[in-house]
Amino acid sequence: MQNLPGKTAFVTGGASGIGLGIAKALLGAGMNVTIADIRQDHLDEAVAELNEAGPQYTDHILALKLDVTDRAAFAKAADEVEARFGNIHLLCNNAGVAVVGPTDLATFGDWDWVMGVNVGGTINGIVTLLPRILKHGEGGHIVNTASMSALVPVGGTTIYSAGKAAVTSMMECMRPELESRGIICSAFCPGAVQSNIADAGATRPADLSESGYAEADKARQNGGSFSHLYQTKEEVGQRVLQGILNDELYILTHSEFLDGVRERGEATTAAVQTHLPENADYKATFERLFRNPAITDEIARQNALKAARA
Ligand SMILES: NC(=O)c1ccc[n+]([C@@H]2O[C@H](COP(=O)([O-])OP(=O)(O)OC[C@H]3O[C@@H](n4cnc5c(N)ncnc54)[C@H](O)[C@@H]3O)[C@@H](O)[C@H]2O)c1
Repeated sequence: MQNLPGKTAFVTGGASGIGLGIAKALLGAGMNVTIADIRQDHLDEAVAELNEAGPQYTDHILALKLDVTDRAAFAKAADEVEARFGNIHLLCNNAGVAVVGPTDLATFGDWDWVMGVNVGGTINGIVTLLPRILKHGEGGHIVNTASMSALVPVGGTTIYSAGKAAVTSMMECMRPELESRGIICSAFCPGAVQSNIADAGATRPADLSESGYAEADKARQNGGSFSHLYQTKEEVGQRVLQGILNDELYILTHSEFLDGVRERGEATTAAVQTHLPENADYKATFERLFRNPAITDEIARQNALKAARA
């Protein structure tokens, strides 16, 4: 999406970490920015931090308390944003939580909490805001915050990676559906970023509180901090802004993941049963199922961006 100044963004989980980094970048690009977050303390700190960026931004910030799993509250929040800024153009489905550890330790509570926020919250964002963006006809953009773990899923991250694969897939499927109707869809897949995600348990609902990972979490928290190795929220916020301006389908960050991303593509390519003959009728009848034009286009887009950087 281009021509960002004066347009309106809605960033879930926008009061901390990556969401706050995205909010800062979008404000700097001249957008009105709503940060919607379940934590009032995060919202208060974020508003103070955003205001520090300059008095010119104050009128362009709206902080709303929202649990993305609450569908009625999501619709009410959208109404509030429209009342304040008018049409919403950019939805960043970014709110997320995490548990990691052996899959056999996971309880229903672990699965339901993480999937409820990371996938359910994203679904709620899309069902609530996509019709509104389509209706105003001024064009728009949806960015789902996924993770490199969607592209390089590794052992011990089953719940998290499966959810991130789902929100990536949503963008891959929606992109060819919506691009001709003026809405661009992007999957943002960062590696590690400095944030408060280790604190996510603070907002876990009581009815989903039974976790199989209490001991693993304690051990991890005592294992030391590696945040000095991570990218900053400002770095990734700028990366998302660039990705939006470039209409990228895949907004990626850390180059350390190159081998993992490539190997996954190579492994799935190698596993295609090319020794079996194709059924030409099947292929011709269901042509649109065998290739996603948005993914084909993305190869050219990323190669052009690479060439421009060289
Ligand atoms: N930090 C990383 O290394 C990293 C890497 C890849 C992807 N991600 C993803 O980035 C996104 C942002 O995470 P972060 O690392 O910045 O964490 P963070 O905890 O700093 O920020 C997430 C924000 O989401 C809010 N939130 C949690 N549950 C919510 C709910 N139900 N409704 C509304 N808001 C809710 C939290 O209060 C918090 O302010 C997540 O989707 C996460 O999975 C993070």
